[in-house]
Amino acid sequence: MKLLGNMKKILIIFLVCILSLAKAQNNAIQIIPQPVEVQKQNGVFQLRNGQNISFNKSEGRAVAEMLAQKLGTPSGFNLKVQQGTAGVIQVNIYDTPNEKIGKEGYILEVSPSKITIAANQSVGLFYGVQSLLQLFPKEIESKSMTSTNWIVPAVKITDYPRFGWRGIMLDVSRHFFSKEDVKKYIDQIARYKYNTFHWHLTDDNGWRIEIKSLPKLTEVGAWRVARTGHFGGRAEPKEGEPTPYGGFYTQEDIKEIVKYAQERNITIVPEIDVPGHSMAALAAYPELSCTKQKVFVNPGTPFSEWYGNGTFKMLVENTLNPSDEKVYEFLDKVFTEVAQLFPNPYIHVGGDECYKGYWAQDAGCQALMKKLNIRHVEDLQGYFMNRVEKILEAKGKKLLGWDEILEGGISPKATVMSWRGVKGGIEAAHLGHDVVMTPTTFAYIDYMQGEATIEPSIYAGLRTKKSYSFEPVPDGVEAKYILGGQANLWTEQIPTLRHAEYMSYPRAWALAEVYWSPKEAKNWDSFSQKMEKHFDRSDIANINYSKAIYDAIVRTSKKDGKIIVEMDSEIAGLDIYYTIDDTMPDRFSTKHNGKPLELPEGAITLRVITYRNNKPIGNLIILTRADLERRVGR
Ligand code: ACM
Repeated sequence: MKLLGNMKKILIIFLVCILSLAKAQNNAIQIIPQPVEVQKQNGVFQLRNGQNISFNKSEGRAVAEMLAQKLGTPSGFNLKVQQGTAGVIQVNIYDTPNEKIGKEGYILEVSPSKITIAANQSVGLFYGVQSLLQLFPKEIESKSMTSTNWIVPAVKITDYPRFGWRGIMLDVSRHFFSKEDVKKYIDQIARYKYNTFHWHLTDDNGWRIEIKSLPKLTEVGAWRVARTGHFGGRAEPKEGEPTPYGGFYTQEDIKEIVKYAQERNITIVPEIDVPGHSMAALAAYPELSCTKQKVFVNPGTPFSEWYGNGTFKMLVENTLNPSDEKVYEFLDKVFTEVAQLFPNPYIHVGGDECYKGYWAQDAGCQALMKKLNIRHVEDLQGYFMNRVEKILEAKGKKLLGWDEILEGGISPKATVMSWRGVKGGIEAAHLGHDVVMTPTTFAYIDYMQGEATIEPSIYAGLRTKKSYSFEPVPDGVEAKYILGGQANLWTEQIPTLRHAEYMSYPRAWALAEVYWSPKEAKNWDSFSQKMEKHFDRSDIANINYSKAIYDAIVRTSKKDGKIIVEMDSEIAGLDIYYTIDDTMPDRFSTKHNGKPLELPEGAITLRVITYRNNKPIGNLIILTRADLERRVGR
């Protein structure tokens, strides 16, 4: 009997240990982006029906109401919002500014009896709320009432951003995203403390912003012929063919989105991409090009040729004519209306990938070059951009452009978005320009994020781990010139919001940490554990994301004429199994031991799969000898 009693005691102690461990695990602090300081405390706060949320100053009311709604929906609790300092949950603005946390920072304190978020401004309260929501169980993401134990671990968090510019660019030209889609996307990125939404509103494939003084821009330029298939390989439009695909934002839509974004502390930088990337504008107003030939809004045809090293040719004209005064009158009208719609001090004017071949052939451009004493046609872009800057300045706006704006000279007041690697940014900073870092090598989230034979095909790849490793301040550059960074989501191959989400996450979470968190606080292993918890949250929120981080990475090289295969995984704790004998791999197949595999002779197919805790977790990757050969050195 005594023995049995003791065993029972041991069993109970064991069960209690397991349960409290599980609870601690559930309550682990999994905030993305990683806060500056996290001090864990003892105990938990329990959310209950009828608790009050208070705000001490009227600027905090909207945040308090947003919190009440976010907590109230999944819990079903009625949480009253009231002015004062009597709430069990309090959002308070400091009377005397707290210098340490700056404009956007906050201090969040959770104790078993109370939650307080304190900040200098309402934006800090908003970010404190985002962190607090991430401390709640994942069910907090539910859009309907659900039951769980609504507890938050006790903690003190002091947090503020590393960079003031934390952006994401969404291209709505290549594919159109509805007003509701844009709002949803803005809502998602605000939760990861992004503060800038760069809206790529015009390009060759659609003009998306209503300009009342130039109605054809949207009557004609927002619509294109229906096409399916890989973008960039589609059939040419035919004369007279209907143009059902597209859409645009009315000025009322834009005001609504700007307000919606402001409520989430996101500022919108509009981009009107000139003088290149202008085929949709030219479809509406062909007289603005050098050739003045009729062009169509492009549905994704192969209208350019790329020769490597960034050199290219446009087979169809897509540039504005820099020698025509009517072009500047056109731009003045466009920027007058754009400037009135967006409170952000910047207007992005593109400047990227402008093909000068039609300028070189044009008598007007040649005469202008002579007049300006310009020898290289490339330098006409400098003239064009300087004219555009004057137009913007007259409307109280600052010029922002892709790093090509450095070519041909631009005033030091212009801000440069470095995209062709970081070298444009380095050069710009040395010249005294402000810089936003958004290099293809770390921040192009339209690139494939995993195995090329599995992912929807794009011409380049960028894994989450690589994005996470980004350091926005290059060696030898004064940090004061680097305003921050962005992720860029070009949408040639992204026709839906679900797929935009798939391409964005988890890389946009990784970059959120790059742009918000202290450099020293970054840690890939701990980020990747948090990332998986955010996958669970996204599942409940119905937000899509990629699981490519679970797939094996297969690289090849050649040695003495033999193919050498190296296999790896992006996150820790995965087992890689493979076969080369035309059988399906499972956890009883050969386990990759980290040593490179020398591919034997013959018609070999490599099949690779990852497991975790004896369960398959990654996609099956199948690569023939030809596939393996093709990726040598890539
Ligand atoms: C760009 O990717 N063309 C800026």
